[in-house]
Amino acid sequence: MSNTPVKVAVTGAAGQIGYSLLFRIASGALLGPDTPVELRLLEITPALKALEGVVMELDDCAFPTLAGVEIGDDANTIFNGANVALLVGARPRTKGMERGDLLEANGAIFTVQGKALNEHAADDIRVTVTGNPANTNALIAKSNAPDIPAERFSALTRLDHNRALAQLSRKTGTSVNDLRKMTIWGNHSATQYPDIFHAEVAGKNAAELVNDQAWLENDFIPTVQKRGAAIIEARGSSSAASAAAATIDHARDWLKGTAEGDWTSMAVVSDGSYGVPEGLISSFPVTTSNGNYEIVQGLEINEFSRARIDASATELGEERDAVQALGLLG
Ligand code: NAD
Ligand code: LMR
Repeated sequence: MSNTPVKVAVTGAAGQIGYSLLFRIASGALLGPDTPVELRLLEITPALKALEGVVMELDDCAFPTLAGVEIGDDANTIFNGANVALLVGARPRTKGMERGDLLEANGAIFTVQGKALNEHAADDIRVTVTGNPANTNALIAKSNAPDIPAERFSALTRLDHNRALAQLSRKTGTSVNDLRKMTIWGNHSATQYPDIFHAEVAGKNAAELVNDQAWLENDFIPTVQKRGAAIIEARGSSSAASAAAATIDHARDWLKGTAEGDWTSMAVVSDGSYGVPEGLISSFPVTTSNGNYEIVQGLEINEFSRARIDASATELGEERDAVQALGLLG
Protein backbone atom coordinates (compact mmCIF):
# COMPACT_ATOMS: atom_id res chain seq x y z
CA MET A 1 0.00 0.00 0.00
CA SER A 2 1.35 3.46 -0.87
CA ASN A 3 1.69 5.76 2.13
CA THR A 4 0.15 9.04 1.11
CA PRO A 5 -3.62 8.94 1.41
CA VAL A 6 -5.70 10.38 -1.41
CA LYS A 7 -7.95 13.07 0.01
CA VAL A 8 -11.51 12.56 -1.12
CA ALA A 9 -13.94 15.34 -0.17
CA VAL A 10 -17.64 14.52 -0.09
CA THR A 11 -20.33 17.12 0.46
CA GLY A 12 -23.77 16.28 1.79
CA ALA A 13 -22.05 13.46 3.62
CA ALA A 14 -24.86 12.88 6.13
CA GLY A 15 -27.46 12.51 3.37
CA GLN A 16 -28.93 9.45 1.73
CA ILE A 17 -26.38 9.13 -1.05
CA GLY A 18 -23.58 9.81 1.43
CA TYR A 19 -24.71 6.92 3.57
CA SER A 20 -23.99 4.52 0.74
CA LEU A 21 -21.13 6.40 -0.93
CA LEU A 22 -18.81 6.86 2.05
CA PHE A 23 -18.65 3.19 2.93
CA ARG A 24 -17.83 2.21 -0.63
CA ILE A 25 -15.06 4.81 -0.93
CA ALA A 26 -13.66 3.82 2.45
CA SER A 27 -13.63 0.14 1.46
CA GLY A 28 -11.52 0.79 -1.64
CA ALA A 29 -14.22 0.76 -4.35
CA LEU A 30 -13.03 4.10 -5.72
CA LEU A 31 -9.25 3.84 -5.64
CA GLY A 32 -8.59 0.15 -5.18
CA PRO A 33 -7.32 -1.95 -2.28
CA ASP A 34 -3.79 -0.51 -2.31
CA THR A 35 -4.56 3.17 -1.98
CA PRO A 36 -5.30 4.67 1.43
CA VAL A 37 -8.08 7.24 1.49
CA GLU A 38 -8.67 10.21 3.74
CA LEU A 39 -12.32 11.23 3.77
CA ARG A 40 -13.05 14.92 4.19
CA LEU A 41 -16.75 15.36 4.82
CA LEU A 42 -18.71 18.58 4.47
CA GLU A 43 -22.17 19.16 5.90
CA ILE A 44 -24.31 22.05 7.01
CA THR A 45 -24.05 22.75 10.74
CA PRO A 46 -27.37 21.12 11.80
CA ALA A 47 -26.36 17.85 10.12
CA LEU A 48 -22.96 17.55 11.81
CA LYS A 49 -24.28 15.50 14.71
CA ALA A 50 -25.80 12.95 12.35
CA LEU A 51 -22.52 12.95 10.45
CA GLU A 52 -20.66 12.13 13.67
CA GLY A 53 -22.82 9.02 13.89
CA VAL A 54 -21.89 8.04 10.34
CA VAL A 55 -18.22 8.49 11.22
CA MET A 56 -18.67 6.17 14.23
CA GLU A 57 -20.00 3.56 11.80
CA LEU A 58 -17.06 4.13 9.45
CA ASP A 59 -14.73 3.55 12.41
CA ASP A 60 -16.61 0.39 13.27
CA CYS A 61 -16.01 -1.06 9.81
CA ALA A 62 -12.24 -0.99 10.42
CA PHE A 63 -11.61 -0.59 6.70
CA PRO A 64 -7.91 -1.19 5.96
CA THR A 65 -7.93 1.52 3.26
CA LEU A 66 -9.45 4.25 5.43
CA ALA A 67 -6.56 6.38 6.67
CA GLY A 68 -8.57 9.15 8.31
CA VAL A 69 -11.79 11.15 8.41
CA GLU A 70 -12.25 14.86 8.91
CA ILE A 71 -15.69 16.45 9.16
CA GLY A 72 -16.85 20.05 9.23
CA ASP A 73 -19.17 22.77 7.97
CA ASP A 74 -16.53 25.03 6.42
CA ALA A 75 -15.77 24.31 2.76
CA ASN A 76 -12.41 26.11 2.99
CA THR A 77 -11.20 23.69 5.66
CA ILE A 78 -12.73 20.53 4.25
CA PHE A 79 -11.51 21.12 0.67
CA ASN A 80 -7.98 21.88 1.86
CA GLY A 81 -5.64 19.62 -0.12
CA ALA A 82 -8.49 17.61 -1.66
CA ASN A 83 -7.51 15.51 -4.69
CA VAL A 84 -11.05 14.40 -5.50
CA ALA A 85 -14.25 16.29 -4.70
CA LEU A 86 -17.64 14.61 -4.93
CA LEU A 87 -20.21 17.36 -4.62
CA VAL A 88 -23.35 15.54 -3.55
CA GLY A 89 -24.85 17.95 -1.03
CA ALA A 90 -27.82 19.81 -2.38
CA ARG A 91 -31.51 20.00 -1.85
CA PRO A 92 -33.05 16.93 -3.47
CA ARG A 93 -36.06 17.21 -5.72
CA THR A 94 -39.26 16.16 -4.00
CA LYS A 95 -42.59 15.08 -5.48
CA GLY A 96 -44.00 17.56 -7.99
CA MET A 97 -40.90 19.78 -7.99
CA GLU A 98 -39.24 20.57 -11.33
CA ARG A 99 -35.49 20.72 -11.66
CA GLY A 100 -35.73 24.37 -12.66
CA ASP A 101 -37.06 25.14 -9.17
CA LEU A 102 -33.79 23.86 -7.78
CA LEU A 103 -31.53 26.24 -9.68
CA GLU A 104 -31.81 29.12 -7.28
CA ALA A 105 -31.95 27.01 -4.11
CA ASN A 106 -28.79 25.15 -5.02
CA GLY A 107 -26.90 27.75 -7.01
CA ALA A 108 -25.68 29.53 -3.93
CA ILE A 109 -24.13 26.33 -2.54
CA PHE A 110 -22.00 25.82 -5.63
CA THR A 111 -20.66 29.38 -5.86
CA VAL A 112 -19.25 29.07 -2.33
CA GLN A 113 -17.88 25.59 -2.97
CA GLY A 114 -16.34 26.54 -6.33
CA LYS A 115 -14.49 29.42 -4.65
CA ALA A 116 -13.32 27.20 -1.80
CA LEU A 117 -12.03 24.57 -4.24
CA ASN A 118 -10.24 27.27 -6.19
CA GLU A 119 -8.42 28.47 -3.08
CA HIS A 120 -7.73 25.26 -1.21
CA ALA A 121 -7.91 22.08 -3.31
CA ALA A 122 -4.78 20.21 -4.43
CA ASP A 123 -3.36 20.95 -7.88
CA ASP A 124 -4.64 17.64 -9.25
CA ILE A 125 -8.23 18.17 -8.03
CA ARG A 126 -11.00 16.48 -9.99
CA VAL A 127 -14.57 17.50 -9.25
CA THR A 128 -17.72 15.48 -9.83
CA VAL A 129 -21.12 17.05 -9.20
CA THR A 130 -23.94 14.69 -8.29
CA GLY A 131 -26.22 17.20 -6.52
CA ASN A 132 -29.00 18.45 -8.78
CA PRO A 133 -29.34 20.20 -11.10
CA ALA A 134 -25.98 18.54 -11.59
CA ASN A 135 -24.85 19.97 -14.95
CA THR A 136 -25.64 23.55 -14.06
CA ASN A 137 -24.30 23.20 -10.52
CA ALA A 138 -21.03 22.01 -12.09
CA LEU A 139 -21.09 25.03 -14.40
CA ILE A 140 -21.52 27.32 -11.39
CA ALA A 141 -18.69 25.64 -9.46
CA LYS A 142 -16.40 25.79 -12.50
CA SER A 143 -17.20 29.45 -13.13
CA ASN A 144 -16.30 30.30 -9.55
CA ALA A 145 -12.96 28.46 -9.74
CA PRO A 146 -11.04 30.31 -12.44
CA ASP A 147 -7.65 28.84 -11.45
CA ILE A 148 -8.75 25.23 -11.84
CA PRO A 149 -8.70 23.96 -15.45
CA ALA A 150 -12.26 23.68 -16.80
CA GLU A 151 -11.75 20.03 -17.73
CA ARG A 152 -11.41 19.13 -14.05
CA PHE A 153 -15.15 19.72 -13.55
CA SER A 154 -17.78 17.16 -14.45
CA ALA A 155 -21.35 16.23 -13.63
CA LEU A 156 -22.87 12.82 -13.17
CA THR A 157 -24.77 11.19 -16.02
CA ARG A 158 -23.34 7.76 -15.25
CA LEU A 159 -26.52 6.79 -13.43
CA ASP A 160 -28.46 7.47 -16.62
CA HIS A 161 -25.83 5.51 -18.56
CA ASN A 162 -26.16 2.56 -16.19
CA ARG A 163 -29.95 2.75 -16.35
CA ALA A 164 -29.76 2.65 -20.15
CA LEU A 165 -27.46 -0.39 -19.99
CA ALA A 166 -29.92 -2.17 -17.72
CA GLN A 167 -32.86 -1.46 -20.05
CA LEU A 168 -30.94 -2.57 -23.16
CA SER A 169 -29.71 -5.70 -21.42
CA ARG A 170 -33.27 -6.62 -20.47
CA LYS A 171 -34.60 -5.95 -23.97
CA THR A 172 -31.91 -8.03 -25.68
CA GLY A 173 -31.75 -10.79 -23.08
CA THR A 174 -28.01 -10.27 -22.69
CA SER A 175 -25.74 -9.52 -19.78
CA VAL A 176 -24.59 -5.95 -19.23
CA ASN A 177 -21.10 -7.41 -19.68
CA ASP A 178 -21.91 -7.81 -23.37
CA LEU A 179 -22.82 -4.14 -23.85
CA ARG A 180 -20.45 -1.43 -25.04
CA LYS A 181 -20.56 2.17 -26.19
CA MET A 182 -23.79 3.38 -24.64
CA THR A 183 -24.12 7.16 -24.79
CA ILE A 184 -26.06 9.69 -22.74
CA TRP A 185 -26.16 13.12 -24.36
CA GLY A 186 -27.09 16.41 -22.71
CA ASN A 187 -28.56 17.23 -19.36
CA HIS A 188 -29.21 14.98 -16.36
CA SER A 189 -32.91 15.68 -16.72
CA ALA A 190 -35.92 14.45 -18.64
CA THR A 191 -34.44 15.95 -21.85
CA GLN A 192 -31.35 13.73 -21.71
CA TYR A 193 -30.92 11.51 -24.75
CA PRO A 194 -29.88 7.90 -24.25
CA ASP A 195 -28.47 6.86 -27.64
CA ILE A 196 -28.17 3.23 -28.74
CA PHE A 197 -27.26 3.96 -32.38
CA HIS A 198 -23.56 3.48 -31.59
CA ALA A 199 -24.01 0.95 -28.79
CA GLU A 200 -23.00 -2.65 -29.26
CA VAL A 201 -24.51 -5.87 -27.96
CA ALA A 202 -21.94 -8.68 -28.10
CA GLY A 203 -20.23 -6.84 -30.96
CA LYS A 204 -23.41 -6.15 -32.97
CA ASN A 205 -24.94 -2.72 -33.45
CA ALA A 206 -27.63 -2.36 -30.77
CA ALA A 207 -30.13 -0.31 -32.81
CA GLU A 208 -29.97 -2.78 -35.70
CA LEU A 209 -30.21 -5.77 -33.41
CA VAL A 210 -33.21 -4.39 -31.51
CA ASN A 211 -34.83 -3.08 -34.71
CA ASP A 212 -37.87 -1.81 -32.80
CA GLN A 213 -38.53 1.91 -33.26
CA ALA A 214 -41.66 1.81 -31.09
CA TRP A 215 -39.67 0.37 -28.17
CA LEU A 216 -36.93 2.93 -28.69
CA GLU A 217 -39.27 5.93 -28.78
CA ASN A 218 -42.04 4.89 -26.42
CA ASP A 219 -40.27 2.69 -23.93
CA PHE A 220 -36.47 2.84 -23.78
CA ILE A 221 -35.91 6.60 -24.08
CA PRO A 222 -38.76 7.73 -21.78
CA THR A 223 -37.97 5.03 -19.22
CA VAL A 224 -34.36 6.22 -18.90
CA GLN A 225 -35.33 9.90 -19.04
CA LYS A 226 -37.97 9.56 -16.32
CA ARG A 227 -36.34 6.93 -14.14
CA GLY A 228 -35.32 9.44 -11.48
CA ALA A 229 -38.90 10.70 -11.19
CA ALA A 230 -40.26 7.12 -11.14
CA ILE A 231 -37.99 6.27 -8.20
CA ILE A 232 -39.06 9.40 -6.33
CA GLU A 233 -42.69 8.44 -6.93
CA ALA A 234 -42.13 4.88 -5.71
CA ARG A 235 -39.69 5.45 -2.84
CA GLY A 236 -40.86 8.87 -1.76
CA SER A 237 -37.27 10.07 -2.04
CA SER A 238 -34.70 10.19 -4.79
CA SER A 239 -32.42 7.35 -5.82
CA ALA A 240 -29.59 6.93 -3.37
CA ALA A 241 -27.70 3.62 -3.53
CA SER A 242 -27.72 3.58 -7.33
CA ALA A 243 -26.64 7.24 -7.40
CA ALA A 244 -23.78 6.43 -5.03
CA ALA A 245 -22.75 3.45 -7.18
CA ALA A 246 -22.79 5.61 -10.31
CA THR A 247 -20.77 8.34 -8.59
CA ILE A 248 -18.10 5.74 -7.77
CA ASP A 249 -18.19 4.35 -11.34
CA HIS A 250 -17.80 7.85 -12.78
CA ALA A 251 -14.93 8.97 -10.55
CA ARG A 252 -13.15 5.60 -10.70
CA ASP A 253 -13.25 5.44 -14.51
CA TRP A 254 -12.11 9.06 -14.75
CA LEU A 255 -9.07 8.29 -12.59
CA LYS A 256 -8.33 4.75 -13.76
CA GLY A 257 -9.51 4.81 -17.40
CA THR A 258 -12.22 3.27 -19.55
CA ALA A 259 -11.73 -0.21 -21.00
CA GLU A 260 -10.24 -0.65 -24.47
CA GLY A 261 -13.02 -0.66 -27.07
CA ASP A 262 -15.57 1.00 -24.81
CA TRP A 263 -16.49 4.44 -23.60
CA THR A 264 -18.64 5.94 -20.88
CA SER A 265 -20.87 9.00 -20.47
CA MET A 266 -19.77 12.04 -18.49
CA ALA A 267 -21.11 15.58 -18.45
CA VAL A 268 -18.09 17.76 -19.21
CA VAL A 269 -17.47 21.24 -20.55
CA SER A 270 -18.42 21.33 -24.21
CA ASP A 271 -15.73 22.23 -26.72
CA GLY A 272 -18.44 22.62 -29.37
CA SER A 273 -18.35 18.92 -30.33
CA TYR A 274 -21.54 17.62 -31.95
CA GLY A 275 -22.97 21.13 -32.11
CA VAL A 276 -23.34 21.48 -28.31
CA PRO A 277 -22.59 25.14 -27.56
CA GLU A 278 -19.12 25.66 -26.15
CA GLY A 279 -18.96 26.12 -22.40
CA LEU A 280 -22.10 24.19 -21.44
CA ILE A 281 -21.57 21.17 -19.15
CA SER A 282 -23.20 18.51 -21.26
CA SER A 283 -23.03 14.74 -21.33
CA PHE A 284 -20.94 13.18 -24.10
CA PRO A 285 -19.43 9.81 -24.89
CA VAL A 286 -15.92 9.97 -23.45
CA THR A 287 -12.88 7.78 -23.12
CA THR A 288 -10.68 8.31 -20.10
CA SER A 289 -7.15 7.52 -19.02
CA ASN A 290 -4.92 8.75 -16.19
CA GLY A 291 -7.43 11.25 -14.91
CA ASN A 292 -8.09 12.82 -18.32
CA TYR A 293 -11.01 12.41 -20.67
CA GLU A 294 -11.51 12.86 -24.38
CA ILE A 295 -14.86 13.37 -26.06
CA VAL A 296 -15.27 10.57 -28.61
CA GLN A 297 -15.12 12.20 -32.04
CA GLY A 298 -16.47 11.35 -35.46
CA LEU A 299 -19.75 9.63 -34.56
CA GLU A 300 -22.39 9.93 -37.23
CA ILE A 301 -25.48 11.60 -35.80
CA ASN A 302 -28.76 10.77 -37.54
CA GLU A 303 -31.75 13.10 -37.66
CA PHE A 304 -33.52 11.32 -34.81
CA SER A 305 -30.52 11.81 -32.53
CA ARG A 306 -29.80 15.34 -33.76
CA ALA A 307 -33.19 16.63 -32.64
CA ARG A 308 -32.82 15.10 -29.20
CA ILE A 309 -29.23 16.26 -28.62
CA ASP A 310 -30.26 19.77 -29.66
CA ALA A 311 -33.29 19.78 -27.34
CA SER A 312 -31.20 18.90 -24.31
CA ALA A 313 -28.51 21.44 -25.26
CA THR A 314 -31.24 24.08 -25.52
CA GLU A 315 -32.41 23.26 -22.00
CA LEU A 316 -28.84 23.51 -20.71
CA GLY A 317 -28.50 26.89 -22.39
CA GLU A 318 -31.68 28.05 -20.65
CA GLU A 319 -30.39 26.86 -17.27
CA ARG A 320 -27.10 28.68 -17.91
CA ASP A 321 -28.97 31.87 -18.79
CA ALA A 322 -31.09 31.55 -15.64
CA VAL A 323 -28.11 31.20 -13.29
CA GLN A 324 -26.24 33.91 -15.17
CA ALA A 325 -29.18 36.24 -14.56
CA LEU A 326 -29.01 35.32 -10.87
CA GLY A 327 -25.34 36.40 -10.85
CA LEU A 328 -24.07 32.91 -10.00
CA LEU A 329 -21.49 32.53 -12.76
CA GLY A 330 -18.48 34.16 -11.08
P1 NAD B 1 -30.25 14.20 1.06
O1 NAD B 1 -31.20 15.32 1.32
O2 NAD B 1 -30.47 12.91 1.73
O3 NAD B 1 -28.80 14.69 1.44
C1 NAD B 1 -28.30 15.91 1.01
C2 NAD B 1 -27.37 16.37 2.08
O4 NAD B 1 -26.73 17.55 1.64
C3 NAD B 1 -28.08 16.72 3.40
O5 NAD B 1 -27.52 15.97 4.47
C4 NAD B 1 -27.83 18.21 3.55
O6 NAD B 1 -27.67 18.60 4.91
C5 NAD B 1 -26.55 18.37 2.76
N1 NAD B 1 -26.27 19.74 2.34
C6 NAD B 1 -27.16 20.69 1.96
N2 NAD B 1 -26.51 21.83 1.70
C7 NAD B 1 -25.20 21.58 1.88
C8 NAD B 1 -24.04 22.38 1.77
N3 NAD B 1 -24.10 23.66 1.43
N4 NAD B 1 -22.85 21.81 2.05
C9 NAD B 1 -22.77 20.53 2.42
N5 NAD B 1 -23.84 19.72 2.55
C10 NAD B 1 -25.04 20.26 2.28
O7 NAD B 1 -30.15 14.02 -0.52
P2 NAD B 1 -29.53 12.81 -1.34
O8 NAD B 1 -30.60 11.83 -1.60
O9 NAD B 1 -28.25 12.38 -0.73
O10 NAD B 1 -29.25 13.54 -2.75
C11 NAD B 1 -28.25 14.53 -2.87
C12 NAD B 1 -28.35 15.20 -4.22
O11 NAD B 1 -28.07 14.28 -5.27
C13 NAD B 1 -29.72 15.77 -4.56
O12 NAD B 1 -29.53 17.02 -5.22
C14 NAD B 1 -30.30 14.77 -5.54
O13 NAD B 1 -31.28 15.35 -6.36
C15 NAD B 1 -29.07 14.42 -6.30
N6 NAD B 1 -29.12 13.20 -7.10
C16 NAD B 1 -28.44 13.22 -8.28
C17 NAD B 1 -28.42 12.10 -9.06
C18 NAD B 1 -27.66 12.10 -10.37
O14 NAD B 1 -27.70 11.09 -11.08
N7 NAD B 1 -26.95 13.14 -10.76
C19 NAD B 1 -29.10 10.95 -8.67
C20 NAD B 1 -29.76 10.96 -7.44
C21 NAD B 1 -29.77 12.10 -6.65
C1 LMR C 1 -32.19 10.60 -10.34
O1 LMR C 1 -31.86 10.62 -11.52
O2 LMR C 1 -32.48 9.57 -9.70
C2 LMR C 1 -32.27 11.91 -9.60
O3 LMR C 1 -31.49 12.88 -10.22
C3 LMR C 1 -33.69 12.33 -9.49
C4 LMR C 1 -33.85 13.67 -8.91
O4 LMR C 1 -34.35 14.55 -9.61
O5 LMR C 1 -33.44 13.87 -7.73
